[in-house]
Amino acid sequence: MHALQLRADYPVLDDLAYLNAGTCGPIPRSSTAAVASLGRQAERHGRGLEHFVTTSHLQAGQRERYARLLGAQPADVALTTSTSEGIVRVLQGLEWHAGDEIVIAEQEHPGLLGPVAALVRRYGVVVRTAPLERIVEAVGPDTKLVACSHVRWTDGTVAPAGLRELGGQVPLLLDGAQAAGAIPIDVAALGCAFYAAPGQKWLCGPIGTGMLWIDPQWQPRVTPVGPTYDNLAAPADGLAAVPWPDARAHDASALSGESSAAAVAAFDVLDDAGWPAVFERATTLAARLGGRLADAGRAVAPRGHSTLVSWSEADPDATRERLAAAGVIVRDLPGPD
Ligand SMILES: Cc1ncc(COP(=O)(O)O)c(C=O)c1O
Repeated sequence: MHALQLRADYPVLDDLAYLNAGTCGPIPRSSTAAVASLGRQAERHGRGLEHFVTTSHLQAGQRERYARLLGAQPADVALTTSTSEGIVRVLQGLEWHAGDEIVIAEQEHPGLLGPVAALVRRYGVVVRTAPLERIVEAVGPDTKLVACSHVRWTDGTVAPAGLRELGGQVPLLLDGAQAAGAIPIDVAALGCAFYAAPGQKWLCGPIGTGMLWIDPQWQPRVTPVGPTYDNLAAPADGLAAVPWPDARAHDASALSGESSAAAVAAFDVLDDAGWPAVFERATTLAARLGGRLADAGRAVAPRGHSTLVSWSEADPDATRERLAAAGVIVRDLPGPD
């Protein structure tokens, strides 16, 4: 991989040290061009059948690429608008009874906590919280689901390999928001039943893209949340119409061709550079940043082999602003210092 050549694909890097891919990645110029091209087509020729054929082709390409990233089959990957939406679709699609237990890890993101809390309020589900490193030990006889981050958003800690031991007994939902496009993913090796991830962060796609992988064994147990036109195998069948028998049953409604075009183009920039090289460079640079911050006297949070680096600041707002003025884009986390 030629890092300088790759950097040249992302205009924001001309002027800024852009270190905020954990929120939204930098946009490559090919992505903007793909959106413009589709927009011009639609503007000139309207959005008739041809537009929908193009959109469907782009979505198939997006699904195939996401599946490849996850080490999965395209038929098992739903196209969502975000990590959070994938999490919601799993949590709302499973069957719950009062007293069922969900085990989550400490420091989870609101994208997981909010939907879990909704189950508590609606069904009387019980939540147990454990340290990510020891989450397997928290599983008990009433545990119906374990849900946690693959990479923790607060400090870049990676979920322990021991999680795969859960496979078979209790389904595991992994939140891959800080993993997809940042570190290698192999859903089978991770032993999870569900994997939700975004397109807009480390994959550098547009906001409003994401993926949800559902283990084929679990697909019959996840009821599609409001299957609408594109989720139905034969929508013209009216009330008799049933959802697709694969992950398309969980696709978000009203996905646009423009967002797929941008997602595919952004993916291909990194794909062409080679994922192993991208992962290696990103994790190496993050580790180097962590090391240099520590050398400079900052309290750097213990982190895993990932792309996130966190450190403490007495006044995070002021530090973020000062760095931005110097052309270095970082974010501060709500809550901790
Ligand atoms: C660990 C984690 N989970 C979920 C989310 C929410 O992601 P999305 O905006 O794709 O729903 C984030 C976003 O920062 C995250 O870091």
